[in-house]
Amino acid sequence: MPGAVIVHHHTRYKTYPGEVTGIVVFSCLIASVAGCIFGYDIGLTSGLTSTEPFLIKFFPTIYEERKKQVITNQYCKFDSQFLTMFCSSLFLSAMTAAFFAGGITRSFGRKWTLFTGGSAYVTGACLGGISFNFPMLLAGRLLVGAGVGLSIHASPLYISEVAPAQQRGMLNILFQLMITVGILTASMTNYLSSKIPGGWGWRVSVAFGAVPAGVIALGALAIPDSPTSLIQRGDTATARKTLAQIRGVGDVREEFDDLSTASQDAMAVESPWKELLFGGKYKPQLTFSILVPFFQQLTGINVIMFYAPVLFKTVGFKQNASLVSSVITGTVNVFSTFVAIMTADKVGRRALFLQGGTQMIISQILVGTFIGLQFGMSGTGAISEQYAMCIVLFVCVYVAGFAWSWGPMGWLIPSEIYPMAVRTQAMSVTVAVNMFFTAFIGQIFLTLLCHLRFGLFYFFGAWVLLMTLFIAMLLPETKNVPVDEMAHVWKKHWFWRKFVVDTSDARSAEMRKRIALEMS
Ligand code: BGC
Repeated sequence: MPGAVIVHHHTRYKTYPGEVTGIVVFSCLIASVAGCIFGYDIGLTSGLTSTEPFLIKFFPTIYEERKKQVITNQYCKFDSQFLTMFCSSLFLSAMTAAFFAGGITRSFGRKWTLFTGGSAYVTGACLGGISFNFPMLLAGRLLVGAGVGLSIHASPLYISEVAPAQQRGMLNILFQLMITVGILTASMTNYLSSKIPGGWGWRVSVAFGAVPAGVIALGALAIPDSPTSLIQRGDTATARKTLAQIRGVGDVREEFDDLSTASQDAMAVESPWKELLFGGKYKPQLTFSILVPFFQQLTGINVIMFYAPVLFKTVGFKQNASLVSSVITGTVNVFSTFVAIMTADKVGRRALFLQGGTQMIISQILVGTFIGLQFGMSGTGAISEQYAMCIVLFVCVYVAGFAWSWGPMGWLIPSEIYPMAVRTQAMSVTVAVNMFFTAFIGQIFLTLLCHLRFGLFYFFGAWVLLMTLFIAMLLPETKNVPVDEMAHVWKKHWFWRKFVVDTSDARSAEMRKRIALEMS
């Protein structure tokens, strides 16, 4: 059956025959567990640094200093750059791994990158869990970071490649859903393991990450590689078989032919890195690969994810209540992601970005104002229960806005806008930028809070305003567009069309020239 043609925003895009088969759902679920180990580490990071037995064992001087400090200003908490550096080391290791991931994904496929990432994580988590000195702990953390970097590079790419275009948004957002599940699991594990007598509960928290990582490593053995990746590595027979299997139809000729054409274009590119960064052909896409993860971190989300307990303590919550509050925000984060899963392929990516962004700006202004009204510039005083509840409420509204906009779209958009030729390299850029700014925000948050005080929320609010305007003006809608037809969306866009080099025209012009030469 030939591919149908659907009308989409005045543009015609192909739909290939096939449906969402069990094997596609299973494969996407396995790949999405990569999000879980990433999220688990985001959640674990905040828990570890407030776990006393852990600090006493590995950072005794910092522990003593923190105990001695008398807090007079609620905005200025104890801040050890060394301790935050230790936390950031995981994200910096993931950033480095992301660059190697490009090569591994290209040469060995998405499936084996997931396997390697999962295995590295299992090894690192076990090493961290049993470590009795700092070098062991650090080595474990770096290995875990490498595992995260490799897995989160391969996972969104894999899902976007195996999912049918009409359901790509929904399936890709499983990755973000797993991130949120990972964060929530970590808050709960931290809480429960801190109850284990003997002060070794943190070992359970650290080692527990090996469970989802094991699922990725073993699961990767059971799933097929993406047809795109198989074609790119020259295994066309398996690619055709896999495509038929995952689409659940016998005749996949049209999609297969299009993938093969895309692969020929990809093979013509000698140096994908050079082509991506300096070729000038991918300016629109590259802008999004860099700015989307950068902006995602500048929403300030990880201030909440890393520091929710510190923040809630700042507004006067007791130790237990602040832990409970982070479980509340974590739960809101998980459930709100379903909104994106249900709507991304219907209302589109842009609508979610714009609505979620607006919601985040409003709640950031309100949270900043509530904190400012109670603590003023000096950071002294106590907060009333009603104010504290309002703050938790609007932090939840903010997290919900993120969970259906910048959270999932931050991973979906970069994974779906590139042609095969430079896709894996571009994903390395996105993961690296994301990891770098995750570490950066973690590193500077306490200093920023001490200097900007309640204005910190206005600061992030201003960034969200800027990025929402950026999306409104410059992001073309990508819903339902087959990945390998994505070039059209740039050609149609009022701004980006100026930057698009029409290779088909260039190619036919070259061909015409050659024919003319041969004839003369
Ligand atoms: C971001 C993380 C963030 C998480 C929150 C992800 O998309 O990359 O930095 O912590 O969402 O759910």
